Amino acid sequence: MQFRALKGMNDLLPGETERWQRLEAAFRRTMELHGYGEVRTPVLEPLELFVRSTGETSEIVEKQMFELERGGERLALRPEGTPGAARAFIGANQHAREPVTRWYYIGPMFRAEQPQRGRYRQFHQAGCELYGDAGPIVDAEMIGMLVEFLSGLGLEKLDVAVNSLGGPTTRTRYREALLAYLEPRSSQLSEHAQRRLRDNPLRILDSKDPRDRAVVADAPSILDVLEGDDRAHFEGLCRALEALGIPYRVDPGLVRGLDYYTRTLFEIQSTQGELGSQNTLVGGGRYDGMLKSLGGPDLPAIGFALGIERLLLALGDTQVPRPRRCFIAPVGERAMLEGLTLARDLRRSGVIVELDARGGSLKSLLRRASNLGSTICLVLGDAELDRGVVQVKELERHTQADVPRDQVVEHVRAALENGAER
Ligand code: HAM
Repeated sequence: MQFRALKGMNDLLPGETERWQRLEAAFRRTMELHGYGEVRTPVLEPLELFVRSTGETSEIVEKQMFELERGGERLALRPEGTPGAARAFIGANQHAREPVTRWYYIGPMFRAEQPQRGRYRQFHQAGCELYGDAGPIVDAEMIGMLVEFLSGLGLEKLDVAVNSLGGPTTRTRYREALLAYLEPRSSQLSEHAQRRLRDNPLRILDSKDPRDRAVVADAPSILDVLEGDDRAHFEGLCRALEALGIPYRVDPGLVRGLDYYTRTLFEIQSTQGELGSQNTLVGGGRYDGMLKSLGGPDLPAIGFALGIERLLLALGDTQVPRPRRCFIAPVGERAMLEGLTLARDLRRSGVIVELDARGGSLKSLLRRASNLGSTICLVLGDAELDRGVVQVKELERHTQADVPRDQVVEHVRAALENGAER
């Protein structure tokens, strides 16, 4: 019987993982530049954590969680990183150590969605959370950091959408205004939206169903009811984005699918590369009430997460150049041990080496060296051993030379370095 990876879950093999590593390294550099430290939290958490934070009426908690039970406790594979980070922040009493905390994370998340290009059941997010600053300057700084990061990777066509959900008072007022508009039109809404009317009418604003879209087109805008501090916060955000010269679009229909958001919301989409309909690269926002609702301090927070798979799709098939490497082809019994020690010596001086000790013919070994994309192939046979030399073949330059054994390491290193400059 042959096993396959589960639906919507992918193996990443060498060749592809190099692109991931490059991306992750760039993300880490950006985060460190902005004073963020890495947090690593468990993949498995109490199910109740997500119910209480991500939200009972969110699509994620309603139908996308991978749940399991162990020792009478209900657990879930994390569908997103924000609740686990908040739990860790509270558990570590982090706010007592410093007034503002900046954390970032990179890791797998799990949602039982219908897989398609850019949408998987195990996917990876790179994200961050900032605790203890009520904004709006840090809100704009975070969006600016993302735009710099994404454009630095070569993405040009970025669409930055922002909105504000206000605080709890604005939300309640808006909910009422929205219900007053939607209820008389409920028969024109999809069945799903009709159910949402009762538990979470705001989510109808981002429904993809054409019937709902037609109804909400003329719905009152949340921005019309933003008042006082909420309005000042949103205007402050827009001013700061303008100061940074970031092109953005105010989208009053942007509500996002998680229940914890307050005030600032943002999403970044790209129309570049191989992304299809799943073209939202980044989603984020402020969640000033979550820490308190999870039993922690009453502190504001904001964060985002970007989908690594989607970002790689947007970046297209640009191949990361492979580091130059050396292949050792020992022919015959005696040459095997010499090959083994030579490989060790080369690696000690930082050369990437593949030793093929399967004992094939020289012809098959050379074919393998070339298939691996090796820059140099070192041939060792009885004749070379008797003369105390190694045959060095530079495969790209089509040259070969016999080099004394005690000079091979230096010779190969120099040849690889010269080649790198070419
Ligand atoms: P989210 O919008 O649910 O937000 O996800 C953020 C990003 O993760 C999406 O924009 C997308 O790129 C990627 N993503 C989500 N689901 C999938 C999937 N099934 N397959 C592939 N990629 C996916 C959050 O998760 C929040 N925790 C963001 C946040 C942090 N808000 C505040 N702090």
